[in-house]
Amino acid sequence: MSLIHWMPENNTNIDFVDNQHRNIASLINELERALEGSLNTVETQRIIKKILNSAISHFAQEENLMEQHDVPDLQTHENEHYFFEDTVCAVEDALKANDISLAREKLLILSEWFVDHIREMDQESLQYVKN
Ligand SMILES: [Fe+2]
Ligand SMILES: [Fe+2]
Repeated sequence: MSLIHWMPENNTNIDFVDNQHRNIASLINELERALEGSLNTVETQRIIKKILNSAISHFAQEENLMEQHDVPDLQTHENEHYFFEDTVCAVEDALKANDISLAREKLLILSEWFVDHIREMDQESLQYVKN
């Protein structure tokens, strides 16, 4: 099962942003498959690190772009990004405690947050970049 099915409605029409969003979505799906199956801890940890690093890099580039275009309420948007990082850490903590069902619950929250954030905040903020 994939947690995130990419849909045209998720696009912001800024290519590098959309590519990064799609990459993070596919890593989230990869982690879901790893939790469903019996991937060992090393592999699972590797995917989690990839999600975290990709997201940190994406948020930094997105925030930089928004700053250049004087997007309003940038601080609110930046604060929202911390939720993603915190939730990835919560998945990691649950796995360390061997609580797979909590890890999957946190991953579901992460995937829902990610798509909602793109459709609400990113699309709203990035309108100022296109114009
Ligand atoms: Fe964002
Ligand atoms: Fe984004």
